Amino acid sequence: MSKPVAIVTGAGSGIGEAVAIHLYKKGYKVVVADLNSTAGENVASTLGPDALFVQTDVSSYRSQAQLLKKAYEWGGNRVDFFHANAGIDDRQNLYDSEEKEELDEDGLLKPLNTKTMEVNLEAVIQGLWLFKYYVRRSKEAGGGKGHFVATSSSAGLYHMPQCPQYTASKYGVIGLCRAAGPVFVKEGITVNAICPAFIPTNLCPPEVLKRWPKEHITPLSTVNKAIDAFLADGTLTGQAVELSQENIYFREQVDWPNESQRWIGTKSNEIWDVGYQEPPKREGY
Ligand SMILES: NC(=O)c1ccc[n+]([C@@H]2O[C@H](COP(=O)([O-])OP(=O)(O)OC[C@H]3O[C@@H](n4cnc5c(N)ncnc54)[C@H](O)[C@@H]3O)[C@@H](O)[C@H]2O)c1
Repeated sequence: MSKPVAIVTGAGSGIGEAVAIHLYKKGYKVVVADLNSTAGENVASTLGPDALFVQTDVSSYRSQAQLLKKAYEWGGNRVDFFHANAGIDDRQNLYDSEEKEELDEDGLLKPLNTKTMEVNLEAVIQGLWLFKYYVRRSKEAGGGKGHFVATSSSAGLYHMPQCPQYTASKYGVIGLCRAAGPVFVKEGITVNAICPAFIPTNLCPPEVLKRWPKEHITPLSTVNKAIDAFLADGTLTGQAVELSQENIYFREQVDWPNESQRWIGTKSNEIWDVGYQEPPKREGY
């Protein structure tokens, strides 16, 4: 039987690189996807012959679709694991000073640069959409089940005032996994989010790396503990797993404040299912 195939985005550095190495050692063929070709090629060549670098911009749907197609074909018509991990911090400050506020030729305020949302959230949703397509077509080659892991953050459980878009995108990733995880597992695909605390990587500004207290660092090995937990249990899905220091914590959604909200949260699905059997017709769009 052919080897299982894993794709890791943002695998040229940090968390993605660590997961790519981990999966390679576990016997996966690994596709290293990154925008940065020097870093990505370097990781893939260090891994060995069962690794492939594919330069990818996850914020472009076409680029990510080409990645999945290439990985599937290179892997012998199967894809088994997708780690939607590439991420960036805020590219423009929501709190920008008055001097930085620019108007266009019509006198309208120019939009905020929301690249962070495209890379950290939209690309994750499209990645799941693409992954499910290829997992469904992996049965003949010995696959047909899969693990989808998305990198959220502690900022997706709490918040980071310096990076409000980053915070919003990471909350979004948890919402996506909690909503879609219990549905996709019915066809053999688990969907989970990891929420790392502080891991010193290239994402962190140099001044932060310099000042950060050592006792509040989470090692990369903790990320791989979460990956192993997902690999070990094909029913573990819809989870947001906080990673802090040496530990992984399965975090529940917030509790219901009253019985009415509990009823909506636990009993109203049948009604919603009826409502969404056919996409509702909406005026105007
Ligand atoms: N380091 C931390 O403390 C920490 C904590 C919580 C969450 N995270 C998340 O972990 C993930 C990985 O970050 P990291 O800390 O390893 O950072 P990193 O900067 O070391 O690695 C991120 C990689 O993603 C790549 N990348 C960026 N934009 C891309 C794009 N459009 N398409 C493809 N690749 C792209 C970069 O080239 C880089 O190699 C991110 O989603 C980040 O938000 C990191």
